[in-house]
Amino acid sequence: MGSFVGTYLRLLGTVRPYLGGLAGALLCMVLLAATTAIYAWMVGPLLKFLITRGGEGGAEILHLIPGIDPSGLDRGQMLVWLPVFILMVAAVKGISYFGQFYLMGMVGQRVIRDLRTRMFARITEMSPAFYHRTPTGQIVSRFTNDVYAIEQAVTFAVASYLRDTLEIAALAVTAFLLDWKLSLIAFVVMPAAIVPIVTFGKRLKTVSLDGQNSLGRIADRLQEAIRGMRIIQVFGAEPAERRRFGEEADGYFRIMRRSFAVRALQSPVMEFLGAAGLAATIGYAGSRVAAGTLDPGHFISFFAAVMLLYNPIKSLGRMGDVTAAGVAAAERVYALLDTPSPVRDRPGAVAAPPFREELVFDSVTFAYGDKEVLHGVSFRARRGEMVALVGPSGSGKSTLVNLIPRFYDVNSGAIRMDGRDIRDFTLSSLRVQIGMVTQEVILFNDSVRANVCCGRPADDERLWQVLERANARSFVERLPQGLDTRIGEGGILLSGGERQRLAVARALLKDAPLLILDEATSALDSESEREVQAALEELMRSRTTLVIAHRLSTVYRADRILVLDEGRLIEEGSHPALLKAGGLYRKIYDMQFAEADQEEPE
Ligand SMILES: Nc1ncnc2c1ncn2[C@@H]1O[C@H](COP(=O)(O)OP(=O)(O)OP(=O)(O)O)[C@@H](O)[C@H]1O
Ligand SMILES: [Mg+2]
Repeated sequence: MGSFVGTYLRLLGTVRPYLGGLAGALLCMVLLAATTAIYAWMVGPLLKFLITRGGEGGAEILHLIPGIDPSGLDRGQMLVWLPVFILMVAAVKGISYFGQFYLMGMVGQRVIRDLRTRMFARITEMSPAFYHRTPTGQIVSRFTNDVYAIEQAVTFAVASYLRDTLEIAALAVTAFLLDWKLSLIAFVVMPAAIVPIVTFGKRLKTVSLDGQNSLGRIADRLQEAIRGMRIIQVFGAEPAERRRFGEEADGYFRIMRRSFAVRALQSPVMEFLGAAGLAATIGYAGSRVAAGTLDPGHFISFFAAVMLLYNPIKSLGRMGDVTAAGVAAAERVYALLDTPSPVRDRPGAVAAPPFREELVFDSVTFAYGDKEVLHGVSFRARRGEMVALVGPSGSGKSTLVNLIPRFYDVNSGAIRMDGRDIRDFTLSSLRVQIGMVTQEVILFNDSVRANVCCGRPADDERLWQVLERANARSFVERLPQGLDTRIGEGGILLSGGERQRLAVARALLKDAPLLILDEATSALDSESEREVQAALEELMRSRTTLVIAHRLSTVYRADRILVLDEGRLIEEGSHPALLKAGGLYRKIYDMQFAEADQEEPE
């Protein structure tokens, strides 16, 4: 309960910038409550006015209009004034209903917009380690289901709490003014009605939490299945996949069964309590009217007030589960917002100066969780050097280069740029210096232009220039809309090699002093590769390049070759020296390079 209240208060705190709108809504709600009370109060006198021939009941009502002395009016004049008054009250009620609904809605929508953008900003700060831990479906569910639940809670539940409480207060005051003894009886039942509201709310919160988690798992399953459909189909895994999905769907069904049981019970329990209150009141009132101690007009008004009370109370009860779902969702959203990225700026981090001399790995150790994959790796890469990384699959090459832009931080040891630990620099200033082509080419469902620019502005001339150098110009020119052609999700509309050339073009455009290529040319044929290679070489001249390559043509141009095996740097040197040494490099050379490349180094 403590965290429930805490989360709810925090959620309400997000309304603070919009207190103006909230105040306006509140004012409308006060008017709405007042007009509802007037409605109730009018019923008795109006009835009296209708069934008697004098102006008795009418005078009682017209007292409310300032500047009118009802004692001077005859019945005919009252017949004009009463409808006018009723219309006035109705108009005020209508306008204030509109006002509170619209203003409250806008407060809620603004809160939701802020929340969404803050969540997205958080997501963009997260290091890949976070994404390994958190399935995509769960994150998506935070943005869709959870934000929706919060929206409901902020817009409708908060509005209902304010509006219905005001309405209940106004009607209760009216009832007490009309007859306090009757009111006492009626309101004894009220606290009894609060108990089920609270217990239902609690139960629904846990059920709703389970439901959201289950929906998240369904989304995960779906997403994974869609991404892997070709594998599922070719390996005949459809029945297994359907079964797994079916189990999740069943799980959700079971949770919803509990949820519906609670929800179905809520309304009748409340209604029955209301009816019990009414039954008691009517029994008592009937006897008092007969005894002449209760004015029937007042009783009718009182009766109307109690009837009108029923709706706001019921609505309040219903808001229990909306709030519970919203708070449960807010707890998850706040958990996301409060998760610090495993990699972030140190306090007092400085902007990295432009890379000048050298990049040094000093006894770098790194582990994914408990699994250490780099053990005390030390090497240096000087400006203008091209350092090649080779090693068997899984030896830690991609991991090693991912440490440079600080997708992960080292566990021990340090990476230094010009003598300074890269963790002393702000992330953004460090990353500005790095161009990267990753092992899995990452492209967005956007135009060629947007994919190459990747957030930085560039004119067409410059774009064609880098495309040309990445050997991508000719295929981009052949695309139906040229630079503006959309390339589909993940670049699905392009071939593997075309995708890779776009990724190279992107790195070329960034023109950063440190270049990281993770098998940047593996999907190219020899011809294209040679051309990209030439472009890269030109780019590399005044830069430091770390390249992970499986091709001899790349490796043997390198100034230095580092051989990585099971996370340890076991050999280092030039191509001829390493060949002569006859170690792991020699083995890799014999098995892989010599076969893959016909051309022999001189
Ligand atoms: N996110 C991760 N979480 C846990 N372990 C990981 C993760 N990424 C990689 N690994 C493990 O770390 C080790 C090194 O992986 P890495 O991707 O660096 O290898 P690699 O040398 O690039 O291999 P390849 O040549 O096949 O690309 C492997 O054993 C791999 O299973
Ligand atoms: Mg790799």
